Amino acid sequence: MRDDRQNADPLEIAAHRARAFLASLPGRPIAPAADAPALRARLATALPDGPSAPAAVIAELAEALEPGLLASAAPRFFGWVIGGTLPAAIAADWLTSAWDQNGAAYALSPAAAVAEEVAGAWLKEIFGLPAEASFALVSGCQMAHVTALAAARHHLLAARGIDVERTGLHEAPRFRILLAETRHESLLRAIRLLGFGLDSITLLRCSEAGSLEPAALAEALAEDGRPSILCLQAGELNTGAFDPFIPAIALARAAGAWVHVDGAFGLWAGASGRFRPLLAGVEGADSWACDGHKWLNLPQDCGFAFTAHPASHRAAFAQTTGYALLAEDTRRALDWNPEWSRRARAFVVLAALRSLGRRGLAGLVEQSCTACARLATGIAALPGAALVAAPIINQALVRFRDPAGRDDDARTEAVAAAVREEGEAWFGTALWRGRRVMRISVVNWRTDLVQAERAVAAVARALARLDRGAAREPG
Ligand SMILES: Cc1ncc(COP(=O)(O)O)c(C=O)c1O
Repeated sequence: MRDDRQNADPLEIAAHRARAFLASLPGRPIAPAADAPALRARLATALPDGPSAPAAVIAELAEALEPGLLASAAPRFFGWVIGGTLPAAIAADWLTSAWDQNGAAYALSPAAAVAEEVAGAWLKEIFGLPAEASFALVSGCQMAHVTALAAARHHLLAARGIDVERTGLHEAPRFRILLAETRHESLLRAIRLLGFGLDSITLLRCSEAGSLEPAALAEALAEDGRPSILCLQAGELNTGAFDPFIPAIALARAAGAWVHVDGAFGLWAGASGRFRPLLAGVEGADSWACDGHKWLNLPQDCGFAFTAHPASHRAAFAQTTGYALLAEDTRRALDWNPEWSRRARAFVVLAALRSLGRRGLAGLVEQSCTACARLATGIAALPGAALVAAPIINQALVRFRDPAGRDDDARTEAVAAAVREEGEAWFGTALWRGRRVMRISVVNWRTDLVQAERAVAAVARALARLDRGAAREPG
């Protein structure tokens, strides 16, 4: 075996192990088998002095790492909005690594540059965004927020005669940033990184479902002279709620505010005619952020930023130093991105979109939403369970009553933990409106009604186990 590994092709070993892992996903326990001490025992060896054969390294590393993998790509994983990976996307990702193209500019990879142009155009078409919108392929929605809000910072300050790229924020007025009370935390980090500061945030009241109330918005947007950014949501993390784009954008326009949309997963709903109406008016915003590694089922990490103001977007990122990158008439990715050297992310985007096609993408979105609805009703019908938020798209919330009348939050946490422990399915919990809930997020291409039924049965077994355990508890 050792000798084989000395001479074997590491790519063959990687392909073999990857195929075995992917084939195991529908049946393997979702929770990792090893904890941190067990993984350290396997991995924290002394730094090797000398080289090892690549094939042996890959075989040994895979053996050491696999017990610590969370099978988040499995069809009954409903934890964070993570998704799996489409077969074509995985294959394209392997090629992307093998080709090792630097996506910074056309001179570094004509293939990456042109693939990125096409990816940008296709994505705008899917999301219904203006064809002339600028875009960037970044690591995820977090960096998409940073990219879009850097464009906003330039735009709003240039309108006040301030060149923020030159002077920084030293001559700038304080910003006012309006966020839903249910906003995703990644927006807060973007606000910190861009120097606006958390004190610039005003949190806005939301409806029971988690979308903005236009009345609260109108009040908050009252003119106060500050450069203002309003962040809307297409798909609230817990309930999947959509903000009312048409009235909210009209109010923001009247107040001169920049409107940014966090559509990390919800923008993909636009691919389905059934859900498209939820996005009515979203195209009127100034910028949008979305993820490829969520509902498009791309491998980590791929996100997208778009802006309706290409000049401001480019001004925030363009490099005008005399770095020799050859004269080009194509889009220089590095002028639109926070990174310089960059993985050629467009290859996986094109692979996924070509493999699904328009109809396949709509089908994926609708299948996830149907599975989420089945999970929500199936779990809510179990003893002591209640539906807290019915799915609008692919997200739902449930909660469990403690039969002994003790703490329902603890019961909800215990049910989710018991499901995870069994390994058949995986749910996380969240705090929603001050109460602990179990969150159901469905974005995996493998999750259909059969998988949903299996997960409902897993929750039923967890409840029965908890009740049996309670019945055995002394006095
Ligand atoms: C609504 C929303 N916004 C932003 C993010 C952050 O995305 P990423 O992890 O790709 O940076 C997430 C991730 O779950 C999200 O659900």
